[in-house]
Amino acid sequence: MTEVDLAGLARAETLEASAYHDPSAFQAERQAVFAREWVLVAHEAELARPGDGVAEQLAGWPLFVRRGRDGELRAFHDVCRHRAGPIVGAAEGGVSRRCATPRLRCRYHGWIYDEQGRLEATPGFGPAEGFEPARLGLEPVRVATWRGFVFVCLDAEAPPLGHALGRLPGLAERLPLERFELHGRAQHTLRCNWKAYVENYLEGYHIPYIHPRLHREVDVKGYEVDASDGVVTHHAPPSARVTEPVYDGLWAWLWPNVAFNVYGDGLSVERMLPLSPTEMRIDYLFLFAEGADREAALAMCHEVTDEDRRICEAVQLNLEAGVYRTGRLSPRHEAGVFYFQSKVRESLARA
Ligand code: FES
Ligand SMILES: [Fe+2]
Repeated sequence: MTEVDLAGLARAETLEASAYHDPSAFQAERQAVFAREWVLVAHEAELARPGDGVAEQLAGWPLFVRRGRDGELRAFHDVCRHRAGPIVGAAEGGVSRRCATPRLRCRYHGWIYDEQGRLEATPGFGPAEGFEPARLGLEPVRVATWRGFVFVCLDAEAPPLGHALGRLPGLAERLPLERFELHGRAQHTLRCNWKAYVENYLEGYHIPYIHPRLHREVDVKGYEVDASDGVVTHHAPPSARVTEPVYDGLWAWLWPNVAFNVYGDGLSVERMLPLSPTEMRIDYLFLFAEGADREAALAMCHEVTDEDRRICEAVQLNLEAGVYRTGRLSPRHEAGVFYFQSKVRESLARA
């Protein structure tokens, strides 16, 4: 992984406003970022039994992950090789959802693929010259797991997942991630570019103005951000008046679009997915330890997400209005934003 030189932060300008609404910028990022990187799609608990599947709309690529009868996880583009019909319908009904996949049959004209994605049958198709089923398998997608989390990568040439995780495994080494039980997902559609939300996640500078309750609970003066090796961590010490800190674990965001928010008794995994140049979806996976106060944790998450949603949507309108071109970043607070924007720039330059 090439490393971002944080020395540039002192004179850094933000990305240009057009990067947050221009359709060509969106297409460029689909290719340069989402077609290249390892991206989290599911938790293994969602894929426990043979035939369990998770459908995903990854920045415009419909795909699915599935557990085979042999226990293997496999992932494929959800695009039939006949006339591009859907197999599981990954493009429908949200960014990410569980789906039963007892067999892989195209919904359009019924072609059947086996567990390895090989074309097995083409009912009623009839004879056709030079037709070679062996060359018409589903397009595979790489899949790999880390401590129960399932990642996919569309790029056959990209380095393995372990490389993409950067310093995350080291940071999470002592955390009992396997003890947490999957609770479920929550999804929120926001009318903003995915980068606007990622950047908002990557700084605590806005906490006093946007999150009144969170502001009471954390000591914003002691808020620290560390950006390196693919990961941005936040450290927010509890404020002196708090006896039971809400955030006392690890907040770690992993390039390009996922954050692990680990608390004493649970974990929320927050994925930030582009839907269009001006829309994105937050897809939360919640996991809890036994006896955790799930309701309180979910309510707090909802409250904070809603506060972030309102400001990100307001920023998006301003980015589209035409008056703003670029701005400056605070070296004290916005190292995470700089790190992310540098990675985006670098990916686009490399593509
Ligand atoms: S598009 Fe899949 S069978 Fe026709
Ligand atoms: Fe926030």
